[in-house]
Amino acid sequence: MTAEAALEAVQGLQAIFGHHEGSRPVHAHGLLLQGVFTATPAAARLTRAAHMQGSPVPVTARFSNGNGHPAAPDFLPDVRGFSVSFHLANGQRSDIVAATLPRSPVRTPASALALVRALRPRLTLPLRFGIYALTHPEFLRTAPANLRAVLTLPASYASTSYHALHAYKWLTPYGSERFVRYRWVPEQRRRLAWWRALRRGRRYLQEEIAERLREGPVRMHLQVQVARPGDAVDDASAPWPADREVVTVGTLELQAPARQGEAEWVFDPLRLTDGIEPSRDPLLQFRTQVYAASAEQRGATHRPQHIRAA
Ligand code: HEM
Repeated sequence: MTAEAALEAVQGLQAIFGHHEGSRPVHAHGLLLQGVFTATPAAARLTRAAHMQGSPVPVTARFSNGNGHPAAPDFLPDVRGFSVSFHLANGQRSDIVAATLPRSPVRTPASALALVRALRPRLTLPLRFGIYALTHPEFLRTAPANLRAVLTLPASYASTSYHALHAYKWLTPYGSERFVRYRWVPEQRRRLAWWRALRRGRRYLQEEIAERLREGPVRMHLQVQVARPGDAVDDASAPWPADREVVTVGTLELQAPARQGEAEWVFDPLRLTDGIEPSRDPLLQFRTQVYAASAEQRGATHRPQHIRAA
């Protein structure tokens, strides 16, 4: 996929949600926090990555609503996002970009672009969307789980799970390697009935986090699901069997609002470090181009790393 395709994706999302100067075309409303991540000993056995060795690592994180309208209220059913950037001692960063959808509804860059085109707000939308759904089996296959995630209103941004969906290769210093998938899990899972969310107000999720931070850190745990040979590592829409080992690799303590402005902040699922390599998933490679095009459009500085697929 080309840079033109990435720009088309950004402009297509702007056609769906409206063009809001300086805003992200999706995940437009969010809040930027700072905190500290500490890996468990199990993490260091799986990867040599600097932030997985057990010493506390400073982190910048952003919770967001998937909607591309910056004023969309928190009580609307939505995908929620959780992006985390680990600040490494050598000045580099390494990112995990995750969302509440448990599976990717799209498999390839072409199907992602086709979905964006199908959702263009014109009179023919229902017809185009219907044709899209019927011609993309992964969309229908992932719809029940994804719909459940979208319709469940969390009591807090930190009371739900977030999935990074793509597989990444974790390498140890001794030469062994495993593919893993990340998910952030809350200390306590809590949902909210829609009428309660409505009563709490338009920014109930943001206000809840601010309130909790005044009392102490907000914790999220990082888990990896470890693939076995033969599992699909280049298809974010395909789940791995439920019996695959899940390892808790660290805890993130969010402590306060970040000092930087969130507008200039850019997360990138391909910003990685030694010990972590991307899979050949074409959607992952495409996302990094889309995020770069989006950052340029909204006036944020972004320098994508070019990392060879594993
Ligand atoms: C399939 C897995 C995906 C996940 C888990 C995901 C998650 C996210 C999250 C959490 C953000 C917010 C980043 C932030 O906090 O700043 C984001 C931003 C964004 N996403 Fe995705 N996304 C996925 C796929 C896609 C695809 C396929 C497209 C394109 C069609 C796309 C387009 C965008 C754009 C344009 C932004 C705004 C980037 C920026 O301006 O910084 N995403 N995504």
